[in-house]
Amino acid sequence: MSQQKFIDSPYVEEMCKITHGLYTHGWDERNGGNVSYRLTKEEVSQYADTNKVLRNVPIDFDASELAGVYFLVTGTGRYFKNVIDNPEAETGLVQIAADGHSADILWGYNDGAQPTSEFPSHLMTHINRLHKDSNQRVVMHCHPTNLIAMSFTLPLDEKTFSRILWKMQAESVVVFPEGLGVIPYMTPGTNDIGEATAEKMKDFRAVLWPHHGVFGAGDSMDETYGLIETIEKAALIYTTIRAQGGQCLQEITDDDLADLANRFGLTPNPDFLTGKSLVENK
Ligand code: 13P
Ligand code: ZN
Repeated sequence: MSQQKFIDSPYVEEMCKITHGLYTHGWDERNGGNVSYRLTKEEVSQYADTNKVLRNVPIDFDASELAGVYFLVTGTGRYFKNVIDNPEAETGLVQIAADGHSADILWGYNDGAQPTSEFPSHLMTHINRLHKDSNQRVVMHCHPTNLIAMSFTLPLDEKTFSRILWKMQAESVVVFPEGLGVIPYMTPGTNDIGEATAEKMKDFRAVLWPHHGVFGAGDSMDETYGLIETIEKAALIYTTIRAQGGQCLQEITDDDLADLANRFGLTPNPDFLTGKSLVENK
C-alpha cells in the first residue's frame, strides 16, 4: 500500500472540480445539491488513510444490495462553494455496512458532518441504475434555475418536457434520447422521494424534481455533469424564447429528431418522437 493520502486522490479532485462547477453555474446556492461517486475496493485500498472506521451513520432503509460498496459523498448542510477549499470536512468516504442499515465513515466529514439528507435517493438510484448498467458510478442532484422555472409553467408530464427540451437544440436528443423523467412535487430528503426517483431511473438517467431541481446519473462525473448541463442549456433556450415573445416561427421538427437519432445510431423514446409542434397552426 502506498503512503498516498486519499485527499490527494483523483476522486477527491474530481469531486472538488464538479462541486465548484455546479456552484459557479449558480445551480447550488447555499447547501443546495449533493453528489455521490461510487468507488471500487481497488481504488479505495490504494490509500493509507481509508482502512479504519471513524464513525457509523444510520441508513433509514434497506440498502443491503449495496453492502460493502464505497461512496464519496457530499455532506448534508454543506456549501458546494466550500468543497474545493476543504474537501475533508465537506465530503466523506463511506462504505455501506453488511446489513444495509448503516454506513461506515472511512475518511472525511472531519468536523462531524454526515452524508447528504438525499442519501436514500442517491442509494436507491445507484441500485436501479446499476441494474441497467454496471458501469454506473455517479448520482448528482442540483438546482438548475431554468429547468426549475419550467416546472411552474408547463404541465408536469414527461412527454411535454422531453419534447420541448429535445427541440431546443440538436444536441438534446443525442445526449438524452430516453427523455426526461418527471415525478410529482414531493418532500425532499425522504425515502418516498427516493423511491419515486429510483423508479423513474429504471427508464431515465435524469429526473425532474418539480419546483426543486434535477437528479442525474451516469458512469462518470463528466457524463453526469454533461447530461445536466445539456438539459439546463435547453431549458435556458426555452426561457429565452419565452422572453423573446414565445412564438416559434420554425423548429427542429419530428422528422429532424428522427434524422438526428439515425445519424448517431440512437433509439429515442418512441413515445416522445411525435406530437405537438412548437410552431403555432402546424
Ligand atoms: P443536503 O445539504 O442535505 O445535501 O441537501 C441539499 C439539497 O439540495 C436537498 O435537496
Ligand atoms: Zn435539493
